[in-house]
Parts: sequence; structure tokens; C-alpha cells
Amino acid sequence: MGEKVVVMGQGYVGLPLAVAAAERGYEVVGFEVDEDRVKKLAVGESYVGDVDSARLAALLDSGAYRPTMEPDDLAGFDLAVITVPTPMRDGLPDLSYIESAGTTLARWLRPGAAVSLESTSYPGTTGDVLAPLLERLSGLAAGTDFHLGYSPERIDPGNTRWTFTTTPKVVAGVDERSRRRLADFYGSIVDQVVPAPTIRVAEMAKVLENTFRHVNIALVNELAMHAEALGVDVWAALDIAATKPFGFMRFTPGPGVGGHCLPVDPLYLSWKVEQDLSRPFRMVALADELNTQMPEYVVRRVTRGLGRRGQTLHGARVLMLGLAYKPNTGDVRESPAVRLAEHLLAEGAQVRVADPVVSEDPGVAGLVRVELSDEEVEAAHVVLVATDHDAFDYAHLVATAGYIFDCRHRVPAADHVESL
Ligand SMILES: NC(=O)c1ccc[n+]([C@@H]2O[C@H](COP(=O)([O-])OP(=O)(O)OC[C@H]3O[C@@H](n4cnc5c(N)ncnc54)[C@H](O)[C@@H]3O)[C@@H](O)[C@H]2O)c1
Repeated sequence: MGEKVVVMGQGYVGLPLAVAAAERGYEVVGFEVDEDRVKKLAVGESYVGDVDSARLAALLDSGAYRPTMEPDDLAGFDLAVITVPTPMRDGLPDLSYIESAGTTLARWLRPGAAVSLESTSYPGTTGDVLAPLLERLSGLAAGTDFHLGYSPERIDPGNTRWTFTTTPKVVAGVDERSRRRLADFYGSIVDQVVPAPTIRVAEMAKVLENTFRHVNIALVNELAMHAEALGVDVWAALDIAATKPFGFMRFTPGPGVGGHCLPVDPLYLSWKVEQDLSRPFRMVALADELNTQMPEYVVRRVTRGLGRRGQTLHGARVLMLGLAYKPNTGDVRESPAVRLAEHLLAEGAQVRVADPVVSEDPGVAGLVRVELSDEEVEAAHVVLVATDHDAFDYAHLVATAGYIFDCRHRVPAADHVESL
């Protein structure tokens, strides 16, 4: 067996990392505080789309990977990676999960060991929050006694071209030795490592990447609203603009942004700017406002579409396709489709939703989960495509539905199909 690697948090980020490291010969301990998750992992059941259960089972059999919620299992670790959540709580960054994972780790931190933070956070988190906590609790000094660094995760769940292994991995350290130590580790499990000059640069680069996406999505969302009012097909305009081979990147409108990253990460950055500089990050605030209002905008458009057909939204039967925040994932965190369902229900619609990928209950009172069938489609006053999973047969949908409102521009064009 190789070095002992501990991965703190076995979620969308931590599990693919743990599995990749175990497959490369590391002795991997997957530490997780959610008992249900540990139980599933222990019997080789993966809840993360990018990790196949068969892969997991093989690693459990060989002993290369061990899930646990027992802190004593961390004893003697050589390298620990922290991949715990970094949500917002009451409008503020919540670093309590990082602090808790750091507290658990500190007890087992030995001279010569290494710690890498991967959770997304604002610039300063590793140096100002994690380093002092580890130093205080272990009595060891970062850089001098143990290695410490930051390596932001860029995983895009469901993306088969850019996976954990093929996506370049940014690595920074509190000192050159820490950076080299982490670069050696990541270099052994991913195709390319990108050294960042400082930890703050790496932290800033990560939040910049997601803020860039957030702002550009807000731009096309606002454009979609104006284009509709001007009578211009925004999707056709985007296709034409995207033929420019330089200086343009195609983003698409949608019912809002979701997932753990886009709705949250830019706010970590704007919080830090406001906190330290006492001034707002205006682009982030505006993008957040625009993206947040999209579900209500969709409801207004659907209300109008139904009105043209002599139907009020109140009392209408709405069949939503998709609950996840993006296609082919079962992730409903911050999903705009869930917000859409809530708004429609609040307006008095009867809302039914088909999503063959989502197993989790989003906890929306009054929302009825159904299997997609011709009967469901025919009985609906409007079929609302919220998430364009590949599993849906869009050509068949056009043939069976009376009115389709397509938030994703995925359904073939027809007179009774309206796009966002
Ligand atoms: N999901 C993505 O696509 C993605 C992409 C890039 C970066 N990130 C970032 O990576 C981090 C993790 O995200 P995720 O999507 O994997 O979250 P997740 O919720 O899927 O997984 C995190 C796991 O950590 C566990 N956990 C919480 N506290 C713990 C502790 N003290 N010790 C051990 N485990 C603990 C949780 O129970 C959970 O299972 C976040 O900062 C996120 O912003 C996520």
C-alpha cells in the first residue's frame, strides 16, 4: 500500500477524488459525517453520478478505499484533502464545515504530513482561517512542520469530456515545499497540474471562474427578456454570435442558476470585497438579482401563454419536466426548477413533475411526482421543460403535447412550442 490519504467529505467532490486516489495505489480513508452516506458507501453504493458503484465495490474489496465516520481511522495520515461544503448562512459565508473538518484533522496532524483544502471559498480562507486553526490545535507550524495548500476543485458533474482526471488542477502552497508536495500528489492522479504563485491567487481564481459564468448567464438571461419584448429570437441570435471565432463565448438563457457553486461562490467573493473594502461588488449583485428573478419571469411568460389559450394559470395543470439544476444530474441543490414549481403552486397551478434522474425529495408541499407518460402530457395545459435531461424524448413530446414552454430550447420548433 502507498501513502495514507484521508478525504474529508464524501460528496460530489470528495468521492471522485477518493476513488481516483485509491485506484492509483493510495490507501484512502473517506471520512464522512453523514451516516446514511457512509452506510451506502460501505456496501459499494455510489450516490455520485460520476462514480460507478462497480468501481467503488472493487476498491472496497481490495481494501484500497475505506469509508468511515470514526475519527480514529484518520490516525497516521500522510495527506488529507478537505472537500466539505461551503454554503451561505443568513447571507454570510459559512466556514463552519471547514473549521469542523480542520478540528478533526488537527488531532492526527504529524510533522511531515500535508493538508490540502479544496472547498470553494473567498481569498484568505486557507491562510487566515484554516492555517491558524490547524496550528493552534496541533502545536505545529504550517510550512515549517507540515505542508498546507489550496487546490480548488473544478469538477463539473456529468461532464464526460472534462472529468476529475482530465481537467487541469490548480495547486498552491503556503510555501514552495508545500506546493511541490501537493503538486506531486495531484500530479499522480490527474493529467495536468497548474501551479499558482500564491494561495490567495488560487482562491481568487476559483471564485473568478464561477463569477464569470454567473455574470455571463445573467447577461443572456436579461437579453432573453428584452429580445422577447423586441420580438427577436434570442436563441437564433446566440447561434449567429457564436460563429465569431474569437472574443465571444456562448452562454444560454435558462430559468435561473442552481447547484452548489454558481448561486453561492460569487457571493463569497462579493462578501469578502464588502467586508474588507466596504464597497459592493456591483456586477455580482446585479447578476444575482437577474438570475434570481428568472423563475418568476418564466411564470409570467407561461401565464401569458396559457392566457392566449383561454386558460388561467390558477387551476391549470402544469407538467414540469426536470427538477435537477442541470441536465443529466440528480442534484436539486438550489435548483431553479424547484423555485419554478414553488412559484407555480403559489399561483394556484396544479404542478406535477417528471424527473427520472432525481431521487431526492425536494420537499415542496403540493408538488406531485409522476412518471412521464402520454396520459400525463395530454392531460397537461402546459408542459414546462425546466431541465433538459437526455432521457426525455423531445420529438415525441412535440407530437403529444398541446402547449410546451421550453426553458432550455431543446424541443423541436413547432407552433405550439414557445422558448424562453
Ligand atoms: N459539486 C460541485 O460541482 C463542485 C465543484 C467545484 C467545487 N465544489 C466545492 O467543493 C466543496 C464540496 O462540495 P460538494 O459538492 O462535494 O458538497 P457535498 O455536500 O456533495 O459533499 C460534502 C460532504 O461533506 C460532508 N461533511 C460535512 N462536514 C464534514 C466534516 N466535518 N467532516 C467530514 N465530512 C463532512 C457532508 O456530509 C457531505 O457529504 C464545496 O466548497 C463546493 O463549493 C463543488
